Amino acid sequence: MWRSLRFASTLGLCASAFGQSSTVDSYISTESPIAKAGVLANIGSSGVESSGAYPGVVIASPSTTDPDYLYTWVRDSSLVFKMLIDQYTSGQDTTLRGHINDFIAAEANIQQVPNPSGTISTGGLGEPKFNINETAFTGAWGRPQRDGPALRSTAMITYATWLIANKNETYVTDSLWPIIKLDLDYIMNNWNETTFDLWEEVDSSSFFTSAVQHRALRQGSALATAIGQSSVVNGYNTQANNILCFLQSFWNPSPGFMTANTGGGRSGRDANTVLTSIHVFDVEAGCDGVTFQPCSDVALSNLKVYVDSFREIYGINAGIRADQAVATGRYPEDVYQGGNPWYLASFAVAEQLYDALIVWSNEGLLTVTDVSFPFFQQFDASIKPGTYSSLTPTYSTLTTAIKNFADGFIATAAKYTPSGGGLAEQYTRSDGTPTSAFDLTWSYASALTAFNARAGKTSASWGAAGLSVSPACSTSKASTVPVIFNVNATTVVGQNIYLTGSVGALTDWSTTNAILMSSADYPTWSTAVTLPANTQIQYKYIIVNNGDITWESDPNNEFTTSMSGITTLNDVWR
Ligand code: NOJ
Ligand code: NOJ
Repeated sequence: MWRSLRFASTLGLCASAFGQSSTVDSYISTESPIAKAGVLANIGSSGVESSGAYPGVVIASPSTTDPDYLYTWVRDSSLVFKMLIDQYTSGQDTTLRGHINDFIAAEANIQQVPNPSGTISTGGLGEPKFNINETAFTGAWGRPQRDGPALRSTAMITYATWLIANKNETYVTDSLWPIIKLDLDYIMNNWNETTFDLWEEVDSSSFFTSAVQHRALRQGSALATAIGQSSVVNGYNTQANNILCFLQSFWNPSPGFMTANTGGGRSGRDANTVLTSIHVFDVEAGCDGVTFQPCSDVALSNLKVYVDSFREIYGINAGIRADQAVATGRYPEDVYQGGNPWYLASFAVAEQLYDALIVWSNEGLLTVTDVSFPFFQQFDASIKPGTYSSLTPTYSTLTTAIKNFADGFIATAAKYTPSGGGLAEQYTRSDGTPTSAFDLTWSYASALTAFNARAGKTSASWGAAGLSVSPACSTSKASTVPVIFNVNATTVVGQNIYLTGSVGALTDWSTTNAILMSSADYPTWSTAVTLPANTQIQYKYIIVNNGDITWESDPNNEFTTSMSGITTLNDVWR
């Protein structure tokens, strides 16, 4: 009896992993053509969903109400065209050249359009969205968003690099380079200024934005070298080094994640960081943590912290085991259009893991460090830090489980994809019904890049291999330092603890914008904040209950931030 039960349950496990893998296979075979058609339908002027859009203009979605997405965003368009350019240059789809040329012409025009962020020479390149006839959108908006020029130049540089290898250097030098250079110069000159994040809400510094800026400058400097434009190379490299240094300061060692933004007053767990990992993936760069490669210990630890932040908050995740895939969204505090799971977030998690599997397979080994230990422990409770060659059983156990875990995120998206295969922006947290903008171009593109990664396909390298932070980094980045605030406070249901204090990053004693702390480790409430280095800071915790505010007793808490490195403050509510 015992034997047969055990046998049955082992079979059941195999059958379920196998069942999931074949479900994912069949989803991918039906969804791939739908997603590809969905992308092309949203590109003017021939796209069947995008009437009125000029040639090469990507609409975010055909939805005109709740939300109105019949605009073109530089971010969405550039990510979409990066995917199409990868498909074209790798030979996966040789029909796309006309679209790519249209995109380049459209963006070259959009660059020149004066808009509320400025003109071409006064900051206009940071404008996030335009009308689909390439005129300026003049309504109120979170602007500037400085990831746009980086993503756009990365897409165009990828194409330019392929053209050079295919004997079309003249076109690159004469036509493409001037367009690309505008974006790169903008990044070089402005990366250190604040920006709205990719979700268009938080005005501060943002990990995704800085990371894609870093990538663009590196690629840009390599392209410039290749076509003899050497005068820009030093400037691009110098600022790329500075950005790479700055990027390291987003890391929170406990519990091991990248804080998405330096401002915003949230827990900092955000799809921003997972999207960073997949969009800076370079298959030549191994598991390098400095550039946040998908298989790096920091990026894997971050992935777990990000995924886990959605386990408790979405109804559709109820009852799912802690080592299995769940629906994930932009960030746990999100309320936009219901603050639901997003398809592109689910696909991004899967893609990061598939990218990691590709690199481990190429290297024939996998390393578990103290930092990535909690991630790997999900798949093998007895795992120890160390390096496991692909010949070891541990390697097989881990990679098989991680492949299943990754497939689980595709299976989650599949489960909530309606029968026609349309991908909206979100699916509801309560029952998974598609919601918010329908036929979101970016959702389709994110499905296609995840499917390619699962099939082992990678994009061209961009030069991430061998990068390191300069020795001077620790002093130059000392302008800000991460501080973790922990406060032990007993609260009742309905009460939340917020942090407020004497500097901008602590909301200048605001009670309405004060920083919501995470109760994940209740009764310890936590948040991580990036503060000016070597600065005297005063702060207090407040309890907010339905708008009623209770301050900690006087005097204010006070400390001086360090010159560099991370500080953890362990306080007790008083
Ligand atoms: C809202 C998203 O937060 C933003 O990233 C995106 O660019 C726009 N919608 C358009 O899709
Ligand atoms: C106003 C609050 O009442 C007080 O408790 C707090 O310490 C100060 N803001 C900041 O100095």
